[in-house]
Amino acid sequence: MARSSATRVLVLHGPNLNLLGTREPAVYGRTTLAQLDRQIQRHAESRGAEAVCRQSNHEGQLVDWIQGAGREGFQAIVMNPGALTHYSLALRDAVSAVSIPVVEVHLSNIHGREEFRRHSVIAAAARGQIAGFGPASYLLGVDAALQSAPPGRPSRRPR
Ligand code: DQA
Repeated sequence: MARSSATRVLVLHGPNLNLLGTREPAVYGRTTLAQLDRQIQRHAESRGAEAVCRQSNHEGQLVDWIQGAGREGFQAIVMNPGALTHYSLALRDAVSAVSIPVVEVHLSNIHGREEFRRHSVIAAAARGQIAGFGPASYLLGVDAALQSAPPGRPSRRPR
């Protein structure tokens, strides 16, 4: 089985983040999801790590990816759960259930927006939260994930 010493980070985008670039640009900016994913991957590479980015509009798919991340050879997760942040106990339980660190990120500063966005049900189960820096929230999230990931453990890649 192929082995790699590069830390592998799984980056998950939740509902509606596929629309980045055209979705409420005054709030979320004009960077598309494809451009953001390239920035994240380049940033991870500059740190000697590898980022794999996935997006889903479906809660259960995100739960499956979180549950399977360790088996897939990831040492950490960076996740923007989108609106699921504010009510998905299933996602929170998935974050609590896995032993690898999960960093919660948001493009906007959820604490300065509508009341319903100010509470994250995920945050208490996550290693930490980064919000309000636009695409840089993800890059800071990757750095935080790399700092939190178990050191020097070779990852087993899926075949
Ligand atoms: C978001 C903030 C959420 O409240 C919202 O539902 C999103 C995006 C952000 O990145 O700022 O979809 O997670």
